[in-house]
Amino acid sequence: MSLNSGDVSPKQLEGDLAGFRKLSEYLRREAGINLTLSAKNQTLLASRIGKIMNPLGFSTYSELHSALLAGRRDVRDLFINAITTNTTHFFREKQHFDFLAKSIRDVVNHPDKKKSREIRVWCAACSTGEEAYSITMSLSAIFPANEGWHLKILATDIDTDVLKKAARGVYPQEAIESVPDNLKNSCFDRGVGDSDGLVRVRKSLRDLITFAPFNLMSTSYAFQSKFDVIFCRNVMIYFDRPEIQSTIRKLEGCLRLGGLLFLGHSETIIGVTPGLKSRAPAVYERLNTNRKGEAA
Ligand SMILES: C[S@@+](CC[C@H](N)C(=O)[O-])C[C@H]1O[C@@H](n2cnc3c(N)ncnc32)[C@H](O)[C@@H]1O
Repeated sequence: MSLNSGDVSPKQLEGDLAGFRKLSEYLRREAGINLTLSAKNQTLLASRIGKIMNPLGFSTYSELHSALLAGRRDVRDLFINAITTNTTHFFREKQHFDFLAKSIRDVVNHPDKKKSREIRVWCAACSTGEEAYSITMSLSAIFPANEGWHLKILATDIDTDVLKKAARGVYPQEAIESVPDNLKNSCFDRGVGDSDGLVRVRKSLRDLITFAPFNLMSTSYAFQSKFDVIFCRNVMIYFDRPEIQSTIRKLEGCLRLGGLLFLGHSETIIGVTPGLKSRAPAVYERLNTNRKGEAA
């Protein structure tokens, strides 16, 4: 979401600094997002909170904080949705998609993979969907449905607004400029009439993805089966070191042996876990190290 400093009321910030601090602390606990460090981040946070205060009928930060602590789900979702930064685009950090295309056959043919022709991918902070669709387009081109492979993509985010946009799969024409030419024509329908200037991801691709809310701060990541590939990019930049470490460990636990974890290029995990081996910049492979009580 964009910053509009007109929404910030410096008086409000000064008059209720304690309430403001409680809100940023709530945000850190609930979503792992730490925006309290710099004056710039404080302005950003105040601006974003400012947008929901009036619609919710709150006049102080403390009132908003009390409603959050009282467990009001509607307030919590509005608050979280207003605060998150959702910047993304198709084939962002393109070298990751090139690496995925180059290595996916090794991943699915790994000796530890049971004889299933199912490929399971988790896109763990998918924002408005461009990343999940980029993965799906790349893999569908390699594993056509008629070869008997089943692609199953789970795409999650903490922000329920972006998930609705993602599931619709409708974007302005300009958004697909970064999509490789060979996929542009085969993966999108062009809008006509009222929808002129818009494109929509083809239904056959949309049907491969399940969009669902998921908070990376959840204490356990309880999925039915492990994933062959996980993308979790450009979200941990907002987390503190302890949250990064525990998130990486939980992501690792969700990967099959030989599976690949893709992080954002500024999200280093050096020293976090011996179970992940670097394969390319910000790409890691799950190794055969024992984790207590875990089946491969
Ligand atoms: C900057 S976007 C990155 C989108 C995409 N992964 C990419 O790299 O283009 C960060 C996303 O992380 C989501 N997010 C922030 N905190 C989260 C959390 N605790 N759990 C899950 N998603 C979170 C935000 O809602 C936002 O959509």
